[in-house]
Amino acid sequence: FVGGVGVLNSGFVGSASLKPESRHAVLEGKRVGLRMVLSAEKASSVEEPKKESKLISRTAEWAALKKHATEDIPLTSIKELLADEERNNEMLVNYDDIFLDFTRQRANRKTLDLLFKLAEKANLQEKISGMVSGEKINITEDRAVLHTALRAAKDEKVMVDGVNVVVEVHGVLDRIKQFSEFVRSGEHVGATGKRIVNFVACGIGGSYLGPDFVHEALKTDPIAAEAAGDRHLRFLANVDPVDVKRATMELEPEETMVIIISKTFTTRETMVNAITMRDWLTHAMGDGAEVVSQHMVACSSNVEGAKEFGINEENVFGFWDWVGGRYSVCSAVGAVPLSLQYGFDSFERFLSGARSIDRHFASAPMEKNLPILMGLLGVWNISHLGFKTRAMHPYTEALVKLPAHIQQVDMESNGKHVTVHGEEVDFEVGEIDWGEPGTNGQHSFFQLLHMGQVVPCDFIGFCESQNPICEDGLPVSNHDELMANFFAQPDALANGKTAQECRDEGVPEWLIPHKTFSGNRPSMSILMKVLDAYTTGQLLALYEHRTAVEGFIWDLNSFDQWGVELGKTLATTVRKQISKSRYHNEDVTGFNSATTKLLNVYLSGSVG
Ligand code: F6P
Repeated sequence: FVGGVGVLNSGFVGSASLKPESRHAVLEGKRVGLRMVLSAEKASSVEEPKKESKLISRTAEWAALKKHATEDIPLTSIKELLADEERNNEMLVNYDDIFLDFTRQRANRKTLDLLFKLAEKANLQEKISGMVSGEKINITEDRAVLHTALRAAKDEKVMVDGVNVVVEVHGVLDRIKQFSEFVRSGEHVGATGKRIVNFVACGIGGSYLGPDFVHEALKTDPIAAEAAGDRHLRFLANVDPVDVKRATMELEPEETMVIIISKTFTTRETMVNAITMRDWLTHAMGDGAEVVSQHMVACSSNVEGAKEFGINEENVFGFWDWVGGRYSVCSAVGAVPLSLQYGFDSFERFLSGARSIDRHFASAPMEKNLPILMGLLGVWNISHLGFKTRAMHPYTEALVKLPAHIQQVDMESNGKHVTVHGEEVDFEVGEIDWGEPGTNGQHSFFQLLHMGQVVPCDFIGFCESQNPICEDGLPVSNHDELMANFFAQPDALANGKTAQECRDEGVPEWLIPHKTFSGNRPSMSILMKVLDAYTTGQLLALYEHRTAVEGFIWDLNSFDQWGVELGKTLATTVRKQISKSRYHNEDVTGFNSATTKLLNVYLSGSVG
């Protein structure tokens, strides 16, 4: 859309074509300053046509939901809603051994109808088709968004710029299969002839969180664990030298392979760690070419960069610009470390779980479509009911890193302030994602969830444990003990406890306010059979698509991440200053007085 003089009357100004200072004024809502800038422009430019706002919040469908949220829903409670069995049955949806229960949302049949109408208005299904068919929907980077192609079956076809990318995907997967078998079988040995049994994956953000989440999920899966044998996989993400220590502790360089994972192969943290790890290897084995060729591999879309670093071309596993960092675990980013550790078959099972959800997402009707339902309820909770955060509680320790991964997927995707057209949103988008496995979280922050702020929760549980234990003398198995909490917590949040219930239990009057629970706290529950490579893939895709659905409804570009740039630029300036001050005794200049002071204290090393 185009900004112009005429739009001042409408109260909305498109910012894309304005000068930086006027764009700033739009963001700040400074209409007066804007007028001045625009009148200066007026003389030299032809008056441009007025454009209507494209915000979803201007539609009748959005308004109907707003009305429903403020007029209907407050009149009822989750406890009352749960009494309606017919409603409940419509809020229990099953697909490929995943049971989604969203009966404990502050929502009824009408809410769902209104959300489906909103989805139609937002062209949700067309947007999903556009994404999976390779349209360049990431317009600020002119890229397709095709993490679904990473798990497509060999005979599928997805065209980008005239190329069937599925052929390329399987070409790289075949190379990874061959390479991982070569290393695992011992045909590929270290520079001193030793078998490689340790892997250190060095990457950050999307080049770390996804692989670490899957690694944790597979570590105790009996099939994957058997395939892992005596191998160890570690991650080095933080540029903090302490993380180097933690990642290399007790590892023998002669038996270790370092995997540099970076889409761009320019990310500062990863490059610093790559140099540090190369030194760690050469320090132990000398700096012969075979040390790098036998002990270092790379996963990157910048093959030239990896080669320049010294990694052999045949040890570089590529991927494409249409794979976003946070959506890259199904590419070489996850495939290389996870296949080396758990075997390529495990990784293939993980891909097929994700593929099952991709197909469902692209074809199931909205009322049966798990990621669509999850996404629409996210929009409902955030934009209409006003909840700013969401907590995720997997009832298995093996999903310890799922919340951190989904935190990046969701917050880097939907942490935006303008729509895909560059128009400032006037409603809440994005959410603060966090979480911990149950039951640990119950003994930490659940106090607040039950009696403090209202935080919609996702509970994820499994019918079977990866490690079934049944102790004599205990009334239930250890897994049932865990899962009793998975079932109890959502009802406790939903139903609460009244003063009368406390009284009936004999609670003294003065203690009753402290012991009553308001209830009416929304959650959804996902129940699956068992956590393994396949179901880990399913969970990944469910949450990736949930985020996409929310972004599509809000009309965001969920696939760029300009917000991470400013801090990186400032860090470069600070780094240069530290170098000049430390090694050339130059004064700290060019910063505000507070930062100057802080930097001087840091450089002096004396905080007293
Ligand atoms: O933190 C920003 C970011 O660009 C993420 O989106 C990305 O996953 C991460 O940095 C790492 O980037 P790269 O894979 O290029 O090293």
